[in-house]
Amino acid sequence: MRNTILSVYQPSHLAKLVPTMQAFIECATQHLESKGEDITFSDLSLVLATDVIGQAAFGVDFGLSKPQSISDSIENTSHQQNDNEVQDFINQHIYSTTQLKMDLSGSLSIILGLLVPILQEPFRQILKRIPGTMDYKVDRTNQNLSSRLDEIVSKRMKEEDRGSKDFLSLILRARESETTAKNVFTSDYISAVTYEHLLAGSATTSFTLSSIIYLVAGHPEVEKKLLEEIDGFGPPDQMPTAHDLQNKYPYLDQVIKEAMRFYTVSPLVARETSAQVEIGGYILPKGTWVWLALGVLAKDPKNFAEPDKFIPERFDPNCEEEKQRHPYANIPFGIGPRSCIGQKFSLQEIKLTLIHLYRKYVFRHSPYMENPLELEYGIVLNFKHGIKVRAIKRA
Ligand code: HEM
Repeated sequence: MRNTILSVYQPSHLAKLVPTMQAFIECATQHLESKGEDITFSDLSLVLATDVIGQAAFGVDFGLSKPQSISDSIENTSHQQNDNEVQDFINQHIYSTTQLKMDLSGSLSIILGLLVPILQEPFRQILKRIPGTMDYKVDRTNQNLSSRLDEIVSKRMKEEDRGSKDFLSLILRARESETTAKNVFTSDYISAVTYEHLLAGSATTSFTLSSIIYLVAGHPEVEKKLLEEIDGFGPPDQMPTAHDLQNKYPYLDQVIKEAMRFYTVSPLVARETSAQVEIGGYILPKGTWVWLALGVLAKDPKNFAEPDKFIPERFDPNCEEEKQRHPYANIPFGIGPRSCIGQKFSLQEIKLTLIHLYRKYVFRHSPYMENPLELEYGIVLNFKHGIKVRAIKRA
C-alpha cells in the first residue's frame, strides 16, 4: 500500500513536477512588491503549498495562488457560498488548518486525552454534540471535509480517462488493476489518505517556507551568502532541474536545515509499542503510546552549541559540530519506516520557491510584527499573527 503511494514521491516523478511547481510559484509571487505594503507571507505560502499539493494529490488546480484569490480564500472561508465542491473543500481545509488548535483554546477532549487518555473518546462523544465547543467545530469541519472529499473521489472514480499522474489517479488505477487492491483501497480509505496528504503537505511546507523568509530577513550575513549562491547558479531565467536543486545549492541546504531545527514544525511524533520494549531503562508494555519530542531534541545544547541562535553553518559538512553530531539529532521529517513520505517533495518545492523569490526580492520584517515571534501549538506549529514582511525588489 505504502509502495503504491511512495511511487508518486519517487525522484523520477518528482523531477517531472518541477515545471508544475514553478508555474504555481510564479503565479503566487508575481505582484509581491506592487503595492509597497506589508504582505502576510504565511498566508501566501499556505495557498501556494495547498495549490501545489492539490495538483499533485488530486490533479486539480485549486486556483488559490492567483493573486486576486489569495486574500479572499483566507478571509472569507467561513461564509463563502460556492457551488464548486473543490473550492469549497479547500476553503474548509484552510479553515481547519488555520483555526483548529491543540492548545488551551483547542479541543477539550484532545487536551484531556493528553492527560488522561482513557477519557478522551467518551468526552469527545459528549462534547461534539454541544454547539460552541471546539469539539463541535472540529466534528462539523471533519464531516464537511469528508463529505466534500467523498464527492471528489467518487466523481474521479467514474471518469474514464484519468490521464494525469496525480496521487488520486494513481491509487484509483492500482485499485482497478488488482483485485486484492479493491478490498484495501476502499473509497473511504482513498478519501482519507488523499486528505492526509493534503493536510500533511500544506501546513508543514508553508510554515517552513515562512520561517525561512522570517529568519533570513533577520540575519543579513546569512542573506548575503545565500544571495551569492543563488546568483552564482546562472542566468536569472534558468530554471534549476531537480538534480541542480539537490546538488548545486549547498548553503541553501544548510539554511533550510537550520530553519527546520530552529522552528520544528511537527514538534511531536507518536508511536504505539507493538510489543513490550525497554527504552532508557523503562519497561513499556505492548500498546503504550510513546511521544518523541522532535522540537526539544533539536534544541539540545549537547548536539547544537548555542541552540537558540540561527547558524546555518552548523550544518556545513566540514563543520566539527556537524561531524560529531548524532545522526538522529535533527529529524524534522521523523525517522524509520513511518517517516515523512513527502520529504523530497517538500524540499524540492521549498528550494524552488526560495530560489525564485531571492532572485527577485529581499525581505524585511514589517514594523507591525510582534517581537519576539509568537507561536501557536496545533497539530503542527503555526504563527500566532502570521509572518508579515516587506518585499523589496532587487536592483
Ligand atoms: C516541511 C515539510 C514537512 C515536514 C516538516 C513534515 C514532517 C512530517 C513528520 C514529522 C511526519 C511523521 C513522521 C514520523 O512519525 O516519524 C510526517 C509524516 C507524513 N508526512 Fe510529512 N512533512 C512535510 C511535508 C509533507 C508533504 C509535502 C507531504 C505530502 C506530499 C507529506 C506527507 C506525509 C505523510 C503521508 C505522512 C505519514 C506517513 C506515514 O504514516 O507512513 N509531508 N511528516
